[in-house]
Amino acid sequence: MLRSIEYKKDHVLILDQQLLPHETAYVRCATTAEVWECIRALKVRGAPAIGMAAAFALAVWANRSRLSTLPAFLESLERERDYLASSRPTAVNLFWALDRVMSKATTATGVEEAKRLIETEALAIQAEDEAVCKSIGEHALSLLADGDAILTICNAGAIATARYGTALAPLHLAKERGIGLSAYACETRPLLQGGRLTTWELQQAGVDVTLISDSMAAYTMATKKIAAVIVGCDRVAANGDTANKIGTFGLAVLAKEFNIPFYVAAPLSTVDLSTATGDEIPIEERAPEEITHFQGQPIAPAGTKVFNPAFDVTPHRYITAIITEAGIVRNNYAEALSRLKRTEHAA
Ligand code: MRU
Repeated sequence: MLRSIEYKKDHVLILDQQLLPHETAYVRCATTAEVWECIRALKVRGAPAIGMAAAFALAVWANRSRLSTLPAFLESLERERDYLASSRPTAVNLFWALDRVMSKATTATGVEEAKRLIETEALAIQAEDEAVCKSIGEHALSLLADGDAILTICNAGAIATARYGTALAPLHLAKERGIGLSAYACETRPLLQGGRLTTWELQQAGVDVTLISDSMAAYTMATKKIAAVIVGCDRVAANGDTANKIGTFGLAVLAKEFNIPFYVAAPLSTVDLSTATGDEIPIEERAPEEITHFQGQPIAPAGTKVFNPAFDVTPHRYITAIITEAGIVRNNYAEALSRLKRTEHAA
């Protein structure tokens, strides 16, 4: 499986997810501006991958910096951090990763030490994410049985993380172990992360995947023996409300109607205790052309008014469980999430 991001000290290679599935090519980024643009344009996307890309952008910037005094170096680093943080607003992993790198850098006593600490921390974020995703996959597998079909949206897979993915991790692990899980992938309008990326990723891994358009979700739940809906997440608020790709909330409401468990797979890096409820999660709105046009061609009358939120919020009452690397949380989200976050910081 291709890696979404490869760190090369004086540049970072980013798998261009806008070209998939037709072309697999990496964008070479040597500046924070180039990484910012890749995040903004969804060449790299998915909450954990955005965080990793931004952390590596700081490492590349640091390696290339000629600043020789620590105060000047840290001041410029802070500016790069703020700039990268402005690329997308919803996935908290972006800010989490940037803050992890910044807090290491500020412990340095000299510029060279700061550069080493920044690189080590960025690499640690990537290595930890792989282990975290594997662990999420193990917990998710414990909720599923051989032969189960799951339904998902967007791409919360290996290319959205360091490896395995979050919502797709149980499918990858099941495949490695000869357990037969299959997936229905919602195409995920308007940018088709499900139709382009989840189908491609699961086919690469040899996992049985069936593509549906978003409007087919209710009928699929009614007719296809869906064992569970499993989705990824961009931010979990302290009370358990979760933001994920637009369309997720609708799936949760449907799942409740059909009595299908609705699981949110989320690393603890996605849990943001400083956001009290889903109402406070900033929801990115993107360009109207993402809806009025398809592959550059207009599909709506010129001047059509558009509302294009990239994410929606699923209130916690619709969520059967949140699957983290540290365990499965059901009910009592506020208490359980803050307990798990404390173990994350202690680790
Ligand atoms: O706009 P995107 O493609 O970055 O949205 C991604 C999602 O909504 C994912 O489900 C989420 O980031 C989790 S990725 C493991």
